[in-house]
Amino acid sequence: MNYSETTDMSVMRARENVRALEKKLGRVPTAAVITFGCQMNARDSEKLTGILMQAGFSVISEESADFVIYNTCTVRDNANQRVYGRLGVCGGYKKKNPYMKIALCGCMMQEPSVIEKIKTSYRFVDLIFGTHNLYKFPEYLADTLEQDRQIIDVWKEPGEIEENLPVSRKYPFKSGVNIMFGCNNFCTYCIVPYVRGRERSREPKEILRECERLAADGVSEVMLLGQNVNSYGRGLSESVSFPELLREVEKIEGIKRIRFMTSHPKDLSDELIETIKNSDKICRHIHLPLQSGSSRILKAMNRCYDKEKYLSLAMKIREEIPDISITTDIIIGFPGETPADVDETIDVIRRVQYDNAFTFIYSKRTGTPAASMENQVSEKESHEQFDRVLTEVQKYAKLQSARFEGRVMEALVEEVNENDTALVTGRLSNNLIVHFPGDASLIGSYVKVRLNECKGFYYLGEKTY
Ligand code: SAH
Ligand code: SF4
Ligand code: F3S
Repeated sequence: MNYSETTDMSVMRARENVRALEKKLGRVPTAAVITFGCQMNARDSEKLTGILMQAGFSVISEESADFVIYNTCTVRDNANQRVYGRLGVCGGYKKKNPYMKIALCGCMMQEPSVIEKIKTSYRFVDLIFGTHNLYKFPEYLADTLEQDRQIIDVWKEPGEIEENLPVSRKYPFKSGVNIMFGCNNFCTYCIVPYVRGRERSREPKEILRECERLAADGVSEVMLLGQNVNSYGRGLSESVSFPELLREVEKIEGIKRIRFMTSHPKDLSDELIETIKNSDKICRHIHLPLQSGSSRILKAMNRCYDKEKYLSLAMKIREEIPDISITTDIIIGFPGETPADVDETIDVIRRVQYDNAFTFIYSKRTGTPAASMENQVSEKESHEQFDRVLTEVQKYAKLQSARFEGRVMEALVEEVNENDTALVTGRLSNNLIVHFPGDASLIGSYVKVRLNECKGFYYLGEKTY
């Protein structure tokens, strides 16, 4: 039996269990998938949701559902703390609903210390699995619905890449597409390579087939996902580079926008810049994580580039594609970082003038090389430096956002504005958000919008004809 057959049989078994539960409850059982992590985790959650729907659950967003699954992240400790906090709340719901089941999966579950803690302090959790065996969820789901014991199955190594899992997309018009899994870069602060395993690229034909299917299903924007898309294609039988893959995706009719995440500065090629520049479909946005502007810290982080290399790359991108928006990630408080190192980071911010930046306080991750480095920076010092960096980042983000004021640009309408239902919210190619008068009928369509007023990080605009 191949994976797909086993999956189908497990889904059928889960469906019978859900039907039996429906009889007991006198209503359709509900399920909720709660996501904590990055785009890749969000994509996994769409697979979990697809499976739950196939099994017959009505999927809702409330944690009072009959089946709740937390798809966890462990990149920084605050992500872990949030999970424990939510679990406490969910445990309360379970006391009131004897049929309720609680499951945990995702990156945090790949850490043995986490599993120990859940086994002792959160015994009401029914199911735990990791990142490498998500494709077995139908089987675990069926087992969990049948049994009352805690099921734990976490693998140290990746399993096969399962191509045929059902998926339920959050948005009908846009979708993430995994092009690779795992990471080989071992930045010294980062836990991702340990919890996601070694880098594996998906076959280009599978990626293209998925994009074609998505396009046929009404998706016009795809986001190609990988921890470092620039190393896409390594280890495949037929050698394909990331720019080549982009050019293939571009040929698919129906796909109007292509995004990707994340591109590591160490190996971003001229060919990639050319490919973006010559494309009508590849969005004018590049996320180029800096982490630090100090060459000394970058070396200790094992980022494989220095300040000069990063700056010349960012300048080249700005020169070649002037309209592009460049965003970044910055870590403050890496072991040994001094205020002088932070000055270097601020210098890069001033020169690149990022359109936006995510700033994080360094979080010690057990098992990573940085965790055992001497001279860890105190929390107080990190916060002070963090505030300094944030002020600079916000200053340039505001300036850069405002540079499109008065222009007419195309927005993909994503939703009706949450606060004002007379407005809809659209996203520009450069990832900026614009709110403008409109209604739900516009969702999923591309609209030319005049960007009337920049409100800091978003625009107020109007539809033009
Ligand atoms: N693969 C991507 C990053 C994925 S993690 C890349 O290399 O660009 C997303 C971001 O989380 C990183 O860019 C980094 O800024 C941040 N991060 C990772 N580990 C961290 C840690 N231990 N403490 C604080 N921030 C961290
Ligand atoms: Fe983590 Fe570095 Fe890999 Fe990004 S490239 S996931 S920061 S190890
Ligand atoms: Fe978090 Fe895992 Fe993504 S640790 S950032 S969810 S790969």
